[in-house]
Parts: sequence; C-alpha cells; structure tokens
Amino acid sequence: MKNIWSWILIIVISVFVFNNCLQKNVYNEMSKDQSFIDKLRSIYSSGNSSTWPKPTLDSKAVPHFSEIGHLPKIEYPLDNPYSSEKALLGKTLFYDPRLSGSNQIACASCHDPELAWTDNKTFSFGHDRQLGSRNAMTIMNIAYATSLFWDGRAESIEKQSHMPIEDLKEMNEHIDIATDKIAKIKGYEILFEKAFGSGKVTKEKIAKAIATFERTLVSPQSKFDKFIDGQSSLFSDNEVMGLHLFRTKAQCINCHNSGYFSNNQFENDGTALLGSKQQDLGRYLVTRNPDDAGKFRVPTLREVTRTGPWMHNGAFTPLRDILTFYNNGSPEAPKKKSTVYQGITLHSKKSEMLRPLNLTVKEIEQLEAFLGTLSTRMQRLTPPKLPE
Ligand code: HEC
Ligand code: HEC
Repeated sequence: MKNIWSWILIIVISVFVFNNCLQKNVYNEMSKDQSFIDKLRSIYSSGNSSTWPKPTLDSKAVPHFSEIGHLPKIEYPLDNPYSSEKALLGKTLFYDPRLSGSNQIACASCHDPELAWTDNKTFSFGHDRQLGSRNAMTIMNIAYATSLFWDGRAESIEKQSHMPIEDLKEMNEHIDIATDKIAKIKGYEILFEKAFGSGKVTKEKIAKAIATFERTLVSPQSKFDKFIDGQSSLFSDNEVMGLHLFRTKAQCINCHNSGYFSNNQFENDGTALLGSKQQDLGRYLVTRNPDDAGKFRVPTLREVTRTGPWMHNGAFTPLRDILTFYNNGSPEAPKKKSTVYQGITLHSKKSEMLRPLNLTVKEIEQLEAFLGTLSTRMQRLTPPKLPE
C-alpha cells in the first residue's frame, strides 16, 4: 500500500515538473518571437532604410532593384509640364462620354475613383456591353510606370490615352471624330484656351490634358509610409512580420520593389495559360520575341487590396489565393505551357525567381496583413461639370 502511494506521488511530481518545463519552453519561444518582432519594429520604423535587414535578392533581380519606400515626387515630362488648368481640362475629358462612339462611355466608366480607379470586375464591359479580355488596372500612381498596359504596349501616358477611345470593345470612336465632337462643344473652348493658350482643339492636346490629370492621381501617405517614417505603433505584429517576410523569405521584393512596388519589368508569373481558351501571350504580342511569351508587366502593389480581382485576367480572388499560388512556386499546369501562334510554337517559361516558399499559414496571414498597409482610403471625387 505504502509503495503505491509513493509511486502516485512520484508520478504527480514528474507530471508537474514536466508540465512546468513545457510551459517555460513555450514562454521562452514566445518571448523570443516577441523580442524579434520588437527589434524588427524598431529597425523598420527608424526612418532610415539603410539600417534595414538585407533583402533576400535573386542575382537576376539585382539590376532592377531599388528599396521599397515612399513614392518619389512626380516628374512631369518637359513637353507636357503640369498646370492646374490642364489637369482640370484632363479631368473633364476623362469623365466625358462624348469621346466614345455611343456618347455613353467615359474613361471613368472603367476607372472609377470610388473603386480605386478601376472597376472591380474580372473583365470590363465597354461598347455594346462587349467584354474585354484583360482586367482593368488602376490608374493610380501610373506617373511611376515606364510603360502602360499589362503588356507595356503604350510607351507613354500621352500615347496610351487615344487607345481606349479607338478600341472597338471599349469606346469605339475614331480619334479624329472624337476630337471633332469635342471641338464642336462651345464650352470646351475656354478650357482649352486656359490650358494651352489657344482654344483650338487637337487630339494631341486631348492626350496631353488627360495624361496631366492622370499623373496627379498619386496615393496619399499609406499606413506603410507613416510606419517607416517613425510611427512605430501603427503596425500590428503581423504587419511588421509581413513586411519582413515580403523583403526576405517570401522574396516578393525581387519584382515588387521601389516606392512604386514594381520594378517596371516584364516577368512570367506562370499565369499565361498557353494552349487553353484563356491563353494570353502578353509581352510577346508587342515584341514578337519568343522569350517574352506569357510575360506581363509587374504591377504596383500600392492600393492592391482595393483593386481586385487580380492579375492580367482577373482570375485570382480573394487575395489569399495569390499568396497560396506564390507559396507553391507559381505552378503552371503542364498542359498549359505551350501553344502554336501564327505558325510559331511558343513555350511559357516561368521566371526562375519563382519557387516554393515554404511559408506557414501564419506567415501567409502576415504577408496579407502587410499588403493591406499599402492601401489608402476611398476618395470621393466630385465629377466635373461637363461643358455644353
Ligand atoms: C471599357 C473599359 C475601359 C475604358 C472605357 C477605359 N479603360 Fe483604361 N483600361 C481598361 C483595361 C481593361 C485596361 C488594361 C488593358 C490591357 O492591359 O490590355 C486599361 C488600362 C489603362 C491604363 C494602363 C494603366 C497601367 O498601369 O498600365 C491607363 C493609363 C488607362 N487604362 C487609361 C484610360 C483612359 C485615359 C481612358 C479614356 C480615354 C480609359 N482608360 C478608358 C479598361 C478601360
Ligand atoms: C518574378 C517576379 C515576381 C515576384 C518574385 C513576385 N511577383 Fe507578384 N506579380 C508579378 C507579375 C509579372 C504579376 C502580374 C501577373 C499577371 O498579370 O498575370 C504579379 C502580380 C501580383 C499581384 C496581383 C496584382 C494586381 O494588380 O492584379 C499580387 C497581389 C502580387 N503579384 C503579389 C506578390 C507577392 C505577395 C509576392 C511575394 C510572395 C510576389 N507578388 C512576387 C511578378 C512577381
């Protein structure tokens, strides 16, 4: 009997000691994690990005790398400098459906300020409610893009602005007819005169005014901007870890870098779906270089939580699906990697920078939390009065 009691006592004591050790261990782990996050928080919010931990960069990414941070001051081109009168004219034209064949569709129909200057649709509809084949991108911060569209086919914002007017599925109007229609509207004369010194309406002036207006659409300071400037308590622990993962283990920074969160390069993200009904050859359609089959312009991640559905084809939603896709190394279905286009066999070659990331569920959550800090609040904009 005595023996049994001693055994019970020994077992109780061992369980107690073991449990205590376990708890201490868990506590140690936690405080280690916490002190690591505290340290990261203070470094990242120090106001000096040269003290940040080194980014994990692929050698291929180095030539196009610059550190993430604030958006620089906008530079207006020498042949199209800023004036508030020109921006106002541009804004008016941006909202004017009379630039379209049906007099019903304006730029603002698909680039709506309340929807982060996009339309939150997989594909936009335009003339006669026809669907396009690519997702409308936000025009916020395009002043920092070195080429426009998912395939970079427009070299400047000025050149881009005529394209949707002439696109049969978008505004479906010849630019000369659109220009004539604007010229016949009496109320526009004074706006052109104030913007350009003469009331004569030309298609070049229309392009310059719209581009000037678009260049003003810059994100205000985001939570990320304020955090790195020293407001250290603005970020949750998850957001701090997400920022660190973005620059290190998850390697997003290889392509999404600079204050614009894009290196303005064309990359194959494994999304081209060659050989399927949805195939999109992307950059190849512009350069005809087989190496460019399936490459798209690296999009900005500023405002990204507001601009879904995502990717050139709007195929991804919710945002978490993109993170899971990257975590799996952006896998391409073996049957959707090649196609014959105009007699030429083309293969999609996914970027070598994309490989499985081994992120835990928690880390994916943290990365997503960080992406949220790059978005700002919805802006309500009073539409301009259209001249008569
Ligand atoms: C019917 C919907 C629709 C209309 C109307 C429309 N857009 Fe777009 N916009 C899109 C789509 C879709 C894309 C992406 C197309 C692509 O990449 O091939 C786009 C892309 C853009 C881009 C490129 C952004 C970037 O980051 O590269 C700019 C700039 C732009 N549009 C400005 C305009 C202007 C200016 C007008 C009016 C003259 C206009 N859009 C009218 C749907 C539209
Ligand atoms: C090899 C370069 C590269 C790397 C690395 C990369 N991206 Fe991308 N990212 C792209 C390209 C190119 C696209 C556009 C692909 C398309 O449209 O099909 C894109 C699109 C996106 C989009 C959709 C944006 C939109 O407006 O539709 C998100 C979100 C995104 N990336 C987040 C990330 C995150 C988070 C990481 C790190 C886990 C990452 N990216 C790593 C090149 C890259």
